[in-house]
Amino acid sequence: MKDALASRLTFHALNLHVGLLRPWVNSPAARKLLARYRDVPAAVRLELRLRLHICPFEEVARLVPPDGTVLDLGCGYGLLSLLLTGESNRRRVVGIDLQQERVLAARKAAGPNDHASFVQGDILDVEFGHPSCIVMNDVLHHIPHTRQIPLLQKCYDSLPPGGLLIIKDVDKVTVWKYIWNYLHDFVKNRNLPFYCLDTPILLALLAMIGFQVETSRLDTGYPYPHVLYLCRKPS
Ligand SMILES: C[S@@+](CC[C@H](N)C(=O)[O-])C[C@H]1O[C@@H](n2cnc3c(N)ncnc32)[C@H](O)[C@@H]1O
Repeated sequence: MKDALASRLTFHALNLHVGLLRPWVNSPAARKLLARYRDVPAAVRLELRLRLHICPFEEVARLVPPDGTVLDLGCGYGLLSLLLTGESNRRRVVGIDLQQERVLAARKAAGPNDHASFVQGDILDVEFGHPSCIVMNDVLHHIPHTRQIPLLQKCYDSLPPGGLLIIKDVDKVTVWKYIWNYLHDFVKNRNLPFYCLDTPILLALLAMIGFQVETSRLDTGYPYPHVLYLCRKPS
């Protein structure tokens, strides 16, 4: 057990250049994104800088179609939304988050001319309209289990045939990463509940709702158990 843990840790330490220390974090795109937050408090800027290290935003963004209306559910400070509009001016992004302070910071970073707008609200209650793509980056594990199926069903119903739901979440497959993630959330997001699903269970729920799903693990070089779910509503 100790040997297995040591060899896993060594493996991930050797792969930091594809995880925590990947070059994208210092790329012009990432620097431009962070620069948009120059008017928010320094503590928030530091948090966002760290967040870019620990979460593979660019891998999520890569899957989003270059045009159409995108809903960023639980958008937080709007990092992913602004990355998406910064990459293509044919995207319109609407970010929704519960926390007013985060929504205000996202609006400030977006400024008046960006194609991203931000709404304070509960994604379990607000109308989604008719987006062509929906993203949920590290949000589903904050939704109580009894509300997860209705939320996924609401995503399915609001998408057109062929529309995409992109979920980046965490799972429990690697125990030490799960514990690390749990502790991180306990310290950082204590105001939010923690309802992590295992990948096979989430896959079964998504299939039951009708999505065709492809998954990939994105956790090499990270202490977090990142999993990506590309869910397509059949045409
Ligand atoms: C771990 S943060 C991720 C933020 C952002 N997606 C990102 O990747 O930087 C989770 C976010 O989900 C939001 N959230 C949790 N439950 C929500 C709900 N029911 N409605 C709206 N936002 C919610 C929280 O306020 C928080 O900002």
